[in-house]
Amino acid sequence: MIEINTDRAKQFIAEDDFNQAYKQAEKAFKLVQQGRGEGSEWLGWRELLADPNDAVLEQIDSLATAIREKADVFIVCGIGGSYLGARAVIEALSSFFGSDGPEIIFAGHQMSGKYLKDLVDYLEEPNNDDEPKSVFLNVISKSGTTLETALSFRVLRKWMTKKYPGDVDDRIICTTSEEGGALNELIDEHGYKKFIIPYDIGGRFSVLTPVGLFPIAVGGIDIRTLFYEAVSKYEELEEDPGQVLEYATAKFALFNKGKTLDVITTFEPQLQALGGWLQQLLGESEGKQGKGMFPATATYSTDLHSIGQFIQQGSRNMMETFITVKSADKSVTIEKLPGDHDGLNYLSGLTFHEINTQAFKGTLQAHTNGDVPSIVVSLDKLNAQHVGEFIYFYELLTAVYCYCLGVNPFDQPGVEDYKREMYQLLGKN
Ligand code: PA5
Repeated sequence: MIEINTDRAKQFIAEDDFNQAYKQAEKAFKLVQQGRGEGSEWLGWRELLADPNDAVLEQIDSLATAIREKADVFIVCGIGGSYLGARAVIEALSSFFGSDGPEIIFAGHQMSGKYLKDLVDYLEEPNNDDEPKSVFLNVISKSGTTLETALSFRVLRKWMTKKYPGDVDDRIICTTSEEGGALNELIDEHGYKKFIIPYDIGGRFSVLTPVGLFPIAVGGIDIRTLFYEAVSKYEELEEDPGQVLEYATAKFALFNKGKTLDVITTFEPQLQALGGWLQQLLGESEGKQGKGMFPATATYSTDLHSIGQFIQQGSRNMMETFITVKSADKSVTIEKLPGDHDGLNYLSGLTFHEINTQAFKGTLQAHTNGDVPSIVVSLDKLNAQHVGEFIYFYELLTAVYCYCLGVNPFDQPGVEDYKREMYQLLGKN
């Protein structure tokens, strides 16, 4: 279960302003539910949950299981919505160090030649049994033309073709649109296995399609639980959207009060990538027409020792979103030290998780005292169940909140601007 607490946002909002914003949120939710808002041709992320397709889950699971048995390394080649969701879930639900499945490496999400060269050098190194590494690659691109992904795929495909002359085509799996785009031409030519990205789901809303689910399954995570918990959350919020309305209202009312920055933060370092997914989901959806809050991300307590000063006492244009986890499945207990040389015996018997929780509570209070309104989102535990719930909650919240702002949540016209300038400099016809 996830819980939303807006108390520390509401104390900064006048009751009338909150009530006004709440009415706007109710209207916005209806626009989503009835498919009447701007960009409503992009609501496939809801239909996916309203009418689950078990055959696709089955297909994803069986290919992922086969790859988990054969691969030393699984490369996920994609950018933006084509990789952030998978990375978020895999990092949230995996060990920090090592795993019993293939090592998952992300590529195609930037244009560092050094990164690619280092990657290829690493792939050339033998595995732990001193044998050549077995590498599989999942290229993910809805358009099939995104430069960062396409260029990296070029390099990696060439390396794989040379390395695995007998079965390279079985090692490359493409996730792309049903038809059109350069990737589909390659699929036709080489017979690569293919997963389809539904035409009515944009990148940042696609984590519960094969875009996210296939790499997540290769990461050994139970995608059925993840997916069906999102389905349950969808059903719950269709019946009673209260949680989403409360959150969207608080955020919208704070925006109306001049808050232009949302620091999305967590005390759990394994949720750093989930913050990155949220940053894209919110940022690319709301940042239009001179509106929206810039979604910054921070990981505490690490970043309390860097930007914590600014958050406590800098420009007062920000709110904060805390993503917290109530109980940890693993932690370390502080033991009593003879002599108490570091003066920390007063903490003996406590776990790191318990101490971290007090650090969260203390920070929350300090930042509230420093006039930073906040919303607290709590997951009972870090598992596929709660993360599935969390994903759909935020997808819906994003759509509802964007309609409150009066912007289309599903397009990203501004992203084209840098591409146009870049392609001109690169001499593209
Ligand atoms: O959310 C989005 O739409 C974007 O971030 C895209 O996912 C990203 O630009 C990658 O696009 P594509 O999948 O077409 O390569």
